[in-house]
Amino acid sequence: MYEVKSETPRHVAIIMDGNGRWAESRGLPRIAGHRRGADRVREVVESCPDLGVSHLTLFAFSTENWKRPEQEVQGLFRLLRRYIKKEGARLVAEGARVRFIGDRTRLSRELQALMAGLEAQTAANDRLHLTVALNYGGRDELTRAAQRLAEAVRRGEVSPDEIGPETLERFLDTVGLPDPDLILRTSGEHRLSGFLPWQSAYSEFSFVEARWPDFTAEMFAAEVRSFGRRERRFGAIAG
Ligand code: FPP
Repeated sequence: MYEVKSETPRHVAIIMDGNGRWAESRGLPRIAGHRRGADRVREVVESCPDLGVSHLTLFAFSTENWKRPEQEVQGLFRLLRRYIKKEGARLVAEGARVRFIGDRTRLSRELQALMAGLEAQTAANDRLHLTVALNYGGRDELTRAAQRLAEAVRRGEVSPDEIGPETLERFLDTVGLPDPDLILRTSGEHRLSGFLPWQSAYSEFSFVEARWPDFTAEMFAAEVRSFGRRERRFGAIAG
């Protein structure tokens, strides 16, 4: 907990922002930006093992994104279904373990089945832990965790006075995953937008100007390397 320098962020979480603006600035439909964004996902995922990043978490669709035009939402889900179908075999071959976080109950049955299939297919892998946040919102995750914890109390499995941070953690979608060391957001916005509010308590942040479709594997490597030069104290003083 009092470790001062970490060479490589073990867990990087990314808010992939700017797809829409990237497309609009080129006179293209917004979905073209998401499509290019999916290509960037592939490159960044592939680069992780060589960089020493063992956990990568990607914010693919938030609980707020339903407010977007129907056509864009449908297009994004089509892209995600295609990604799972097309990339599944490659992710298995690369030794990636895929997990999804977020509330799946609002997603189509077809997509839920694809997600569960990929999770099962990759469950034994551990070269890269790839977590995709889909219909994810931090307040939503904490609310669902509180509901499940309350049910456990009602069943007599947990006593209220023994509840600590590690108790609540057991009910989060991210159970079993380390907290992110580095949270990166593209496209010049300086917000978390509900991404991993509990898990980011001690994370470092990096905000880059490039829009996600322009964010190359080289830029990702540069961010990972710059993390190694930061000093993390976790509330302690420098040693
Ligand atoms: C934010 O850009 C991006 C999203 C809401 C979607 C991210 C999804 C992908 C990159 C698709 C593929 C994902 C995976 C995991 C395969 P924005 O549309 O909010 O951009 P804007 O702020 O410029 O409008």
